[in-house]
Amino acid sequence: MSLLYQGKTKDVFTRPDGNLEFHFKDDATGYILDGKPVFNSGYDKVVGQIPGKGQISCKFTEYLFKIFEANGIPTDFVAMGPQPNVMIVKPAKLLGVPNKATNFKGSDEIFGLETVFRNEVMGSWWRRYPSQIPGNRLNIVEFYAKGKAGEPDILMVDDALVQLGMMTHQELETTKARTQKIAKIMNDEFLKRGFHLVDGKVEWGRDAKTEEIILIDDLSPDTFRVCEGYELDEQGNCKVNTKCVMTDYRQTSRFVKCANCLDFVEVKDDYKRLIEAKNILSADPAGLKKLADAFHLTV
Ligand SMILES: Nc1ncnc2c1ncn2[C@@H]1O[C@H](COP(=O)(O)OP(=O)(O)OP(=O)(O)O)[C@@H](O)[C@H]1O
Ligand SMILES: [Mg+2]
Repeated sequence: MSLLYQGKTKDVFTRPDGNLEFHFKDDATGYILDGKPVFNSGYDKVVGQIPGKGQISCKFTEYLFKIFEANGIPTDFVAMGPQPNVMIVKPAKLLGVPNKATNFKGSDEIFGLETVFRNEVMGSWWRRYPSQIPGNRLNIVEFYAKGKAGEPDILMVDDALVQLGMMTHQELETTKARTQKIAKIMNDEFLKRGFHLVDGKVEWGRDAKTEEIILIDDLSPDTFRVCEGYELDEQGNCKVNTKCVMTDYRQTSRFVKCANCLDFVEVKDDYKRLIEAKNILSADPAGLKKLADAFHLTV
């Protein structure tokens, strides 16, 4: 088997039979605030490890992808692998666009495509539209071009997807409808176990054999956010948002090593909008275990 790609949360191998193997890792994404790692699946940078996370992510993906297949959403899932953190999937072509501007410095390809479903006002939705009440109900699907390692994903409008040739208008409608269905299925799955699904991100690719757009990659606590202890009103808006959502607008800072001395110096960054739900279960080891237990996926 040869290593094809070393991702943030998995290593991808090519199998002799042409399929791929995902080896899920314990690495966890988040951000550094005042020098300390804060785990948060809404972020794209690995900031530490949570023991057992790889197996839980693998089993979550299996559990959910099987339900999606049963509901008519095609996926890359083939089978579980020889170890509990390993999954076998069909190879797919990412929905990227080659770089046509190679003579221009800074030009780049587009690597792939993801959709985000948002069931409530949170994260970058609120940072973009800070007039909205955090925790209020939403029914939104957004397309994002995958950002390069360490770079943020790029929000895309529908017309851009078609113009760039990433998918046809019909495929766009189908992919949007499938993302909405995924959001609904997952919402029900979590709600019946007493949890509240906030938002999530899924990746799409073309089946290498059939060219059909299928759900690829994983769907684990890395890629969705779930809360507990939420109370909803008749409109489905969170009633306890002032207690569990923290927002701020302030100048952040980071520490960089001084070039000519041994000290670290504080560098002031731009003003930023921050939003954080205090009870996101995937954010810490105990919450992750609680989620896994509720789905009987304990390692
Ligand atoms: N069925 C598939 N066929 C081919 N490549 C795939 C398939 N499913 C996922 N991939 C790719 O494998 C890689 C898996 O890496 P991983 O999910 O760990 O992190 P990443 O790409 O660095 O980050 P992120 O998923 O957050 O964008 C990704 O580049 C993904 O696009
Ligand atoms: Mg991924």
